[in-house]
Amino acid sequence: MPKVEIDGRQVEVEEGLNVIQAAERLGIEIPHYCYHPGLSIAGNCRMCLVEIDKVPKLQIACNTRVSEGLVVRTQTERVRRARQAVLEFLLVNHPIDCPVCDQAGECKLQDYYMDYDLEPSRVPLEEKVHKGKALDIGPLVMLDQERCILCTRCVRFCDEVTKTGELGLFERGDHVTIDLFPGRRLDNPYSGNVVDICPVGALTSKDFRFRARVWYLQRTPSVCPTCATGCNIDIHHLRGRIYRFRPRYNPDVNTWWMCDEGRLGYRAYQGEQRILEPFRRDAESVLRCDWETVLAEVPRLLREGAEAVVFARATNEEAYLLREIFGKLLGGGNLHGVSWSPENASRDDFLRDADKNPNTRGLAALGVLVPVEALRRALLEGRRDVLFVFGGDLEPVLGPEGLRELRRKTRVLVAADFRGHATLAQADWALPVASFAETDGTFTNRGGRVQRIREAFPPPGNARPGWWVLARIAERLGSPKRFATAEEVFAELAAAEPAFSGMSYATVGERGCPLAAVDR
Ligand code: SF4
Ligand code: SF4
Ligand code: FES
Repeated sequence: MPKVEIDGRQVEVEEGLNVIQAAERLGIEIPHYCYHPGLSIAGNCRMCLVEIDKVPKLQIACNTRVSEGLVVRTQTERVRRARQAVLEFLLVNHPIDCPVCDQAGECKLQDYYMDYDLEPSRVPLEEKVHKGKALDIGPLVMLDQERCILCTRCVRFCDEVTKTGELGLFERGDHVTIDLFPGRRLDNPYSGNVVDICPVGALTSKDFRFRARVWYLQRTPSVCPTCATGCNIDIHHLRGRIYRFRPRYNPDVNTWWMCDEGRLGYRAYQGEQRILEPFRRDAESVLRCDWETVLAEVPRLLREGAEAVVFARATNEEAYLLREIFGKLLGGGNLHGVSWSPENASRDDFLRDADKNPNTRGLAALGVLVPVEALRRALLEGRRDVLFVFGGDLEPVLGPEGLRELRRKTRVLVAADFRGHATLAQADWALPVASFAETDGTFTNRGGRVQRIREAFPPPGNARPGWWVLARIAERLGSPKRFATAEEVFAELAAAEPAFSGMSYATVGERGCPLAAVDR
């Protein structure tokens, strides 16, 4: 491994890294625009110029590979003057519309101007070259050509990652612009990523534009719940409302990217479809009730006939508690784990999986997953006293007539989910539980990687985390365990289940932990 010196400090790094990456290892940021670790090197913005020993001219750090004995200086007066000159050049025709720009607060042009320039423009606004503003270039993306600094990250993303090639550079000189090729739209399934990688406010999200100032938003690391891939994300939220999902780097899952379907998936987790209170149905009406009543009555009902369905949207912790309740405390009742996705579900060879459940593999590892056809047969054959449905709607699985038939054959239906649907509407007991953004827990993705989700904010109204509801039901059924957190449930799961052996929330961490190879 080559040893290099940056700003007087030595570091040993892997062969093949560039100077920007090597400096990052020392916590030194070399400013850059066109360089992105997931794309080829373009070397066009010149923002990353540094001094290198024995080389007379300044060199671009993004295109300089480390080699033994390389000596780099990133903070000299010459480097600072070069950065200032590059910024002045990039800002010559910039419209300076920061007050109305969505990127303000996370814009590298603003940040580096404050760090390295701070000079007024020598070009009056009226003399600047004007280009297209607020151009609708695709279902998710707006383009402002005047704000663009021509770094070509977006072009390279469409050429190299999605290989769809919608964007290019057109015209010459100071009239050069980013634009769509004639007759094209930026409508590939991963188009939203260009907004994330655009270092300035040239590409903005139609969905997020003008909805929030980014400095007000809080970030919580989590996992996309829209398919089995489990792309790592940050939830950007404020006062119990999700504003956007952004991909979070994980080299073992999604690297820097996420799909548009997952990106917009946040909409399903808020709004009018949420149920906020527990409800019970009697002969004439549906009545709001409290958790004390639920926890007194539902365990008593479960003793009368224990059968349950858990959807692969439940966390590992919730599925484990259901297994404890129906497998042990109720003396071996039936627990059917189900992973249902629409027949025409989107998929590709990159990230999107046709399995639209985040925890199919977790249910399989816990030994509770059954084939959808076997579930249909099991539910529609014969009558039952009590059925407990957790984390999903049976209507798409059984069809509307199948659900009605199930209802006719089931004396008491108990359903728990974060939002209303046909099964909850027909339930005798409807229990509101937290969404994936409001609870701690883990999902196991399609590759067998156990990954953390976290409570970004508390559940709305009187909803409670699913693990909390199930732990309290287990207590009422005689369990000696008193789980106070999802982490304690996971610790017990890891001790009991060989595939999760040795894991804890600490070892799962930010990037997840693979299941151990055990036969099931
Ligand atoms: S639109 Fe953004 S990402 Fe694309 S070239 Fe311009 S500044 Fe770079
Ligand atoms: S590929 Fe799947 S997990 Fe990743 S962002 Fe898309 S829907 Fe979410
Ligand atoms: S980041 Fe090196 S030239 Fe743009």
